[in-house]
Order: sequence, then C-alpha cells, then structure tokens
Amino acid sequence: MRKKFIAGNWKMFKDSQDVDLFLEDVKGWKNNENLEIGICPPFIHLVRLNEELSKLGIKIFAQNVYFEKEGAFTGEISVDMLKSANISGAIVGHSERRNIFGEDDQLINKKVKALVKEGLVSILCVGESLEERENNKAFEVVKLQLEKGLQSISEAELKNVVVAYEPIWAIGTGKVATPEEAEEMCSFIREEVSRLYNEDVANNLIIQYGGSVNDDNAKELLRKPNIDGALVGGASLDWKKFYKIISWDR
Ligand code: PGA
Repeated sequence: MRKKFIAGNWKMFKDSQDVDLFLEDVKGWKNNENLEIGICPPFIHLVRLNEELSKLGIKIFAQNVYFEKEGAFTGEISVDMLKSANISGAIVGHSERRNIFGEDDQLINKKVKALVKEGLVSILCVGESLEERENNKAFEVVKLQLEKGLQSISEAELKNVVVAYEPIWAIGTGKVATPEEAEEMCSFIREEVSRLYNEDVANNLIIQYGGSVNDDNAKELLRKPNIDGALVGGASLDWKKFYKIISWDR
C-alpha cells in the first residue's frame, strides 16, 4: 500500500526567529506509520530543521538543487552537499522555478537524475497553466513534462521519485482544483508512468496534489484513490494549519 506523503513548501518565507517559533509549536508531534511528513525550507534553515525535526520523524527537503557535483556555480547547492547533511531530497521543477527562473525540462531532468543517482528523493512538479487548461491542453502538457522530466531514469531510480501535480492556476491563488479534477490528472499521471515503465512501478509511485491545499479541502483531496499526498505552500507556514492538514484522517 502507498503511504501518504504530505510536504510543506515554505518557499522564500521565514527568518531564524520564525523558525524558532515554528519549532516551539511542532514539539508535541507524533508521527504515524502510514504518513510521511516533509518540510522544504529555504537552504539556510535546512541543517537546523533537520537536526530538530528528524527526531520527530519529519523529513527535510530542499526546494532546489544543482546537478553538477561541485565547481564554480555561484549560488548553487549540490546533491552531495544535501546528502552529507542528511537531507532527504529536493523539489525539482516547481512552476516558480520554471516560470521565474527559466528552468526547462532538460535542466529539470538533469536535477532529477542527479538526485536519484545518489539515492535522494526528487519531488518532480508538473502542471499546466490556466490558458493550457482552458485550451484543453492540460493532459498533453503534463504528459510531456513527465516524459522529459523522467527521461533515462531507470525503474530502480524511479523509486526515489515523487510526482507532484500542481496546476499553476491553483498555486497561491486560493483557487483549488476540485477533488475530481485533481484525481483525474493524478490518475492520468499514474497511467502515463505505467506506459513509460510498467504497472507495478506505477502502482507504487507517490503522486501528490499541490495548489491551495488547506485544512478545509485537504480531507476530500486526500481521500481520492490516486492522490497520495499533498505539496502545501502557504498553509504549511503555520504549524497549526499544517497540523490540521497532516491530521486529515484523525
Ligand atoms: P500553495 O502553494 O499551497 O500556496 O498554493 C503550493 C506550491 O506551490 O507548492
């Protein structure tokens, strides 16, 4: 059975004092076996959060990574650096990276490859824009992002890939996809992975939904058979809100 995996993407929010307050709030958290929890903070907080939260069974992920091993790449962080600090993996191909920083599928694929080669988890984000959805291009766009993002990733390496379906029109807009729309795309992603690999691999793949997930809509989304978790932005910044989301089945 697939475990649910809910991760909070903090984006470029929270200074050290905010992290102090967050850690104060998290203290009593008890992990449950069927649930994996992740926090994806800005780089500067990775090590500290990992030290504090791994004790509680919460995993820490970066929001980005570079594919080269080391070198003159000002401003970048490598997979080996994450690995040596016991960070679990990284988000790759978030729409903000694609749209604001111009990352394309080829670069994203290199990052996915670099992570899984070292046994780290790659949370690969895919999702269409509003225009693409309105022009009935959503499935075509996601299909291509998947094919290109997963190019030359082996079946064994795919075990370290999580796919996050994040329709761009739902990110940070308060406009959440209906559970049916989200389920339809997550089920399509599973079928595509089955076509690219095989049914067994596809059945084990964790597929998250992301885009305006909050404590009101999480339950309905997470009950859907092909939605194995969530990538939560805004609502993950406040532990009390995030707690309600990760306690969706309690
Ligand atoms: P949001 O962001 O929950 O604030 O919409 C989700 C994301 O970008 O991962």
